[in-house]
Amino acid sequence: MKSFLPSKLETKNLYGLLSGSIGPRPIAFVSSVDKHGNPNLSPYSFFNVFSANPPILIFSPVRRVRDNSIKHTLENALETKEVVINVVNWDLVQQVSLSSTEYEQGINEFEKTGLTMLPSDLVKPPRVKESPVQYECKVQDSIALGEEGGAGNLVIAEVVKLHIREDLLDEGLHIDQHKIDLVSRMGGNWYSRANKGMFEVEKPLQRKGIGVDQLPDSIRLSSVLTGNDLGKLGNIEVLPASSLVKNFILKHDLEDFIENSSEERVHLIAQEYIEKNELEKAMNILLAKQ
Ligand SMILES: Cc1cc2nc3c(=O)[nH]c(=O)nc-3n(C[C@H](O)[C@H](O)[C@H](O)COP(=O)(O)O)c2cc1C
Repeated sequence: MKSFLPSKLETKNLYGLLSGSIGPRPIAFVSSVDKHGNPNLSPYSFFNVFSANPPILIFSPVRRVRDNSIKHTLENALETKEVVINVVNWDLVQQVSLSSTEYEQGINEFEKTGLTMLPSDLVKPPRVKESPVQYECKVQDSIALGEEGGAGNLVIAEVVKLHIREDLLDEGLHIDQHKIDLVSRMGGNWYSRANKGMFEVEKPLQRKGIGVDQLPDSIRLSSVLTGNDLGKLGNIEVLPASSLVKNFILKHDLEDFIENSSEERVHLIAQEYIEKNELEKAMNILLAKQ
């Protein structure tokens, strides 16, 4: 065994050891609004359920180790005392990852991720329509666990209304654990799909991805591409100019393929590239077929 005193470790190393060994962790996909009503959406895996009566969920936005700054979600939760906690399943995971990009305060991550805002009944923050279970919550209390980089802040949220996708429920109000297809967070870039095992999602770029809202309609509204596909494409830094797309198509001898294939076929092939994380190739053929 290698043994450590926490006080002798650098915070970033301690963070890595803790998050690499405490897992898989459920993910709260937290929607909040600032005092002007601007929505925010971000994932938090320092999260769990702690009580059923009253129904209490707790998540913890941590002060950034880098510069001790505070997350927008925490600011909003403290300011408005309301959040919606949406659960994360496989179909959402790329968009969840994209939403953790550090966009400026006031940027709506619903738009950036291409997810749909659904009005809540009892609180102001909107729900994520695509999430299979959504908890409307009032923030009962918050506890700051420290004041330096790496310090967590417990946000203690009481569920005031829950929404569950109907096809997941049986008559006895049990949730089908296969159908819900939950995803959780582990160390580094690793996630776990409960009914399949581990997989990796690269962290969003240090520089910001353009977001799903900046993709052309032909891609954003594709009948072939899934939310996960769009989430990966939204992570690229810039759309290639049309001259670059033309060069790419010529260089890879793809003129005939683009010319003679239907949009659906091109999107299906692009989807295969996205699956293999060959995003440049995928984006170029998608743009060439507009
Ligand atoms: C799956 C996942 C889980 C995360 N869990 C946490 C967490 O528990 N605590 C935290 O402070 N940041 C966590 N992050 C990072 C935040 O989501 C990220 O800092 C985000 O930009 C915060 O956004 P906000 O400032 O709009 O609230 C997580 C990121 C991902 C992708």
